[in-house]
Amino acid sequence: MFCEDFRTQVPITQKYIYLNHAAISPTPLPVLFETFRYLYEVANDGSLADNREEQDELLHIRQKISKLINSEPQEISFIPNTSYGINVIAHSLLSKGDEVITDSLEFPATVYPFIKLKSKGIKLNLIDVTPYDIEDKIISQLNDRTKLVVISHVSFNTGVKIDVKRISEEIKKVGGYILLDVIQSLGTTKVDVKDLNVDFAVAGGYKWMMSPQGSGFLYVKNELIKDPPFYGWKTSKNYLDFDAKSFSLEEGPRRFEIGTIDIAANLGMAKSAEILQEHNSEIEKRVKELSDHAIDSATDKGLEVITPKEKKAGIVVVKTENPRKVSVELMGKGIITSPRGNGIRISTHFYNTLEEVEKTISSIYSIVTK
Ligand SMILES: Cc1ncc(COP(=O)(O)O)c(C=O)c1O
Repeated sequence: MFCEDFRTQVPITQKYIYLNHAAISPTPLPVLFETFRYLYEVANDGSLADNREEQDELLHIRQKISKLINSEPQEISFIPNTSYGINVIAHSLLSKGDEVITDSLEFPATVYPFIKLKSKGIKLNLIDVTPYDIEDKIISQLNDRTKLVVISHVSFNTGVKIDVKRISEEIKKVGGYILLDVIQSLGTTKVDVKDLNVDFAVAGGYKWMMSPQGSGFLYVKNELIKDPPFYGWKTSKNYLDFDAKSFSLEEGPRRFEIGTIDIAANLGMAKSAEILQEHNSEIEKRVKELSDHAIDSATDKGLEVITPKEKKAGIVVVKTENPRKVSVELMGKGIITSPRGNGIRISTHFYNTLEEVEKTISSIYSIVTK
């Protein structure tokens, strides 16, 4: 019921069949209004509005994100994008001789930071995988030099949702850590950092969390990375003294927030986290239903589906020749998707309908068979 009702809060549904949440979510009205509420207060009250919001060190935002992923609020720091968060971990955790494992299906954001670190004696082991063997291949490469496994919970170009617990269990045995990129899962799939047993998690808010670009968070398990890789004025405990000659390292989550953050965008993310958390199970069920329908309908029409049905979340990739051209033709029909990997990526959120999915698959079929 909630899922259908929420559709009225997403104006884009009146205009397009929008199945591109794995790229950017349209901002739903409650999130937009929360963001606007703060910007309007700044317009009227300037620094007083900011002081009101920051007086608790943004604990009220941290609390909402932590509730969604089952962490402690002090384990949540704000970051401008996923890439920044991955770099924070890369530059503080690793030293000469350490090995990092990741895989060939990853988005470049989870790989490139470690290319930079090669010159510092850190080895990058980029394993060739398929959607069916990611866990086995990663586990087979673990050794006593493995310091970090970096991996996406849901793959951007195949839609496969990995079995994180299998990997996190094994990596603990060699004394390593796991950094989970949850930008393609959080919002459609339950993410419980304690249950998944991950050390670090990162996400920008602008995909399935339906928040403005510029929002994002980094989860760092308590006791890890006490000394962040970069210092800024906000890294100091007494930052409001504005005294350049006195620095003492902040111990809380602000230690990773080197300067001013995008309060409006992160307030939007907190609003979204509240909605997603409250309706977690219903949303997860609905997204699975929509993805299943996309897979079944495509398979029935003889189209090849890259995403494994038993290991999926919100992304379904249907294989086509020339996906870019197909995606442009779909756009001409008012259907917004993305060409990714070897096909068309359909990414449905909980307020999409089975009819929209059906129309999209039928349109792909008629484009590729004409
Ligand atoms: C798995 C994954 N990580 C990261 C990103 C983007 O990172 P950022 O938030 O730094 O732009 C994407 C974007 O598509 C992605 O799919």
